[in-house]
Amino acid sequence: MSVGIDEISFYTSNYYLDLRTLAEVQKTDTEKYYQGIGQEKMGMAAPDEDVVTMAANAAQPLIERVGTDAVTTLMFATETGIDQSKAAGIYVHRLLGLHDNCRVVELKQACYSATAALQMACALVARQPEKKVLVVASDIARYDLDSPGEATQGCGAVAMLIAADPRLIEIDPEVGNYAEDVMDFWRPNYRATALVDGKYSTKIYLRSLKKAWENFCEASSLAFGDFSHFCYHLPFGKMAQKAHQHLAKVNRSGLDAEQVEAQIADSLHYNRAIGNSYSASMYIGLTSLLENCKHNLAGSRIGFFSYGSGCVAEFFSGKVVDGYQHFLHRERHHNMLEARTEVDYTRYLELYRYPDPRDGSECKIEAETTGRFRLAAIRNHKREYIAV
Ligand code: CAA
Repeated sequence: MSVGIDEISFYTSNYYLDLRTLAEVQKTDTEKYYQGIGQEKMGMAAPDEDVVTMAANAAQPLIERVGTDAVTTLMFATETGIDQSKAAGIYVHRLLGLHDNCRVVELKQACYSATAALQMACALVARQPEKKVLVVASDIARYDLDSPGEATQGCGAVAMLIAADPRLIEIDPEVGNYAEDVMDFWRPNYRATALVDGKYSTKIYLRSLKKAWENFCEASSLAFGDFSHFCYHLPFGKMAQKAHQHLAKVNRSGLDAEQVEAQIADSLHYNRAIGNSYSASMYIGLTSLLENCKHNLAGSRIGFFSYGSGCVAEFFSGKVVDGYQHFLHRERHHNMLEARTEVDYTRYLELYRYPDPRDGSECKIEAETTGRFRLAAIRNHKREYIAV
């Protein structure tokens, strides 16, 4: 029996800022962002959207297919949680109408937590193969205005159904891990935006990749040449390109630059248009690969490098299942990205600065999102979510 990803769906907000606009305001060359960072647009959450509504929107199409009683565990991965105590997944559990006997938990380790959730979900399903686990990862990436990280902001959520004999990706049990106590990127409880030592974070990312890969090679019989494609954590597209060049070099792959690029190019499309979605980003990258690769990937092995600042990293692998193309949500995803509205710089600042009331006063939030779930109000420190 194999265990892995049976279905995958993602969601991002209906607003975006083109990085050309940011470059013009900052009097920077647009190509620094389009080429140098490898990003084109950043998703901006509407005032009535947050990690809960985005996660529910990502998961709804999966639940419509399998039914509300099919999921026995919901794992919610995020680093932009909305409560120090209550799991964001509890709201999603209600919005999706999941069964009362469903287990719900929130996981955190920066951008890595969705991978922890995926591996734990696989272990649960391996123990009870009739069960299905819903893994959702949802984040809003925010940095200070005029900081180097600003151009890498974004938002998005991904939902994955983990099941026995999956229809998309069989996840291999062997993994390579690496953990180290470093301060490359963090967000103290009292801050709305992340703090980051940008250049240092890219160095730690590459070091973690090498270390996790070495650990993976000790555990698995697979070698670099056994993989046709790779998916990396995507803080910005260029980071994955650099990482993959690094891995190809470490392994003396013998591939030329074009061949190295071809192994990741299709995983970058969606992130380029959304920006960083932290815990969701590598899995939105996987969706991009599966939905945009012109070759039939059935039988191919994909290498995954998941990185969460602070830091925890994991390299793992999966095999694409025959017939996977029939179970993707390609058209819906493409339509969603196409239907978004571009905002100008003034509107971007309004969305960025949208008040987050902390005094318990009543705050009704105008309907703006085109998604199926929205944050309608905050009252007495309680967030009120509704289905539209
Ligand atoms: N045309 C083309 N390219 C240009 C250019 C132009 N006109 N101008 C500059 N560039 C290139 C630069 O040469 C550079 O390329 P190289 O990296 O290949 O040298 C690239 O554009 C970026 O330019 P800078 O290095 O000057 O960029 P910066 O210092 O302003 O910002 C950054 C880069 C520090 C990574 C910043 O984006 C940042 O802080 N990002 C947030 C942190 C981050 O994402 N870290 C990644 C690892 S941590 C992680 O993965 C967790 C996570 O999700 C945050």
